[in-house]
Amino acid sequence: MAAETATGPMRVLVLGASLRADSLNAQLASLVARLVRDEAGSDVDHAHLNEFAMLLYNGDTEDAEGVPPGALALCERLSACQALVISAPEYNASMPGVLKNAIDWVSRVHPQPFKDKHALLVSASPSMVGGNRGLWALRVPLEHLGTRVYPDMFSLAKAHEGFTADGDLAHSGLHERLAELVTSFLRLVEADTRYVCLRRRWYEFPGDCTDAPVTLRAQD
Ligand code: FNR
Repeated sequence: MAAETATGPMRVLVLGASLRADSLNAQLASLVARLVRDEAGSDVDHAHLNEFAMLLYNGDTEDAEGVPPGALALCERLSACQALVISAPEYNASMPGVLKNAIDWVSRVHPQPFKDKHALLVSASPSMVGGNRGLWALRVPLEHLGTRVYPDMFSLAKAHEGFTADGDLAHSGLHERLAELVTSFLRLVEADTRYVCLRRRWYEFPGDCTDAPVTLRAQD
C-alpha cells in the first residue's frame, strides 16, 4: 500500500523519545521508520529526541526569550507531517519527563501542531510490561492537544533481547503484528487525509466561555 495525500505521499515523523545513545526505543523507532517507508510507502522523517535540546519549561523563560530553538525545530518537523509515531520509554509507570517537557514547549507555538495529527504509540523496555503503562500516560497530553491517538498500541517486552542483528523483531509473530499495526494506522491516516470531511476546532480549555485572554486558545 502506498499511502498518498491529495498532493503526494504521506509524511510521517517517527520519533525515538529517549535521550540515550543505545536506546531500545531508538531501535524500535528505526524499525517502525523502515516499516512506514518500505511496507506502507510513506515518506519518513526519522528523529531522535536528543536532536531537540531545550531547557525545562519555565513561563518566565518563555516570556523573556520565547519558545527555544529545539522546540521550534521539533514543531517544524511535526508540522511538515500528517502523522506521528512515538517510541517512548516508560519511567516509573509513566512517560519520561523529557518527552512531556518537549510536548509542553511545542504546545506553546501558535497554532500548536498536534491538533490535526494522527499518532501511533509504541514502546520498548527490558521489563515484562514493555513500557505499555507509559503509553497510557502519553495519550493524555496528546489527546488533550487534539491528536487522534490510534487505539491500538505496541509494547515490546524484554526488548534487550528482542531484536535481530538486522533490526527486525526476533519473534516473527510479533514482527508481523507490528507491521500490520503500522499499515492499519497509515490506512486510517490516509483516509482522514484524503477524504477529510471534519473541520476540527481545538480548545485548550473545553467549556470555558470567559473572555480572559489566557483562556482564549481556541485554534482552527
Ligand atoms: C525505568 N525503566 C522502567 N521500565 C519499565 O518497564 N517500567 C518502568 O516503570 C520503568 N521505570 C524506570 C524509571 C527510570 C527512572 C529509569 C531510568 C528506567 C527501565 C527502562 O524501561 C529502560 O531503562 C529502557 O531501556 C529505557 O528506554 P531506552 O532508553 O532504552 O529507550
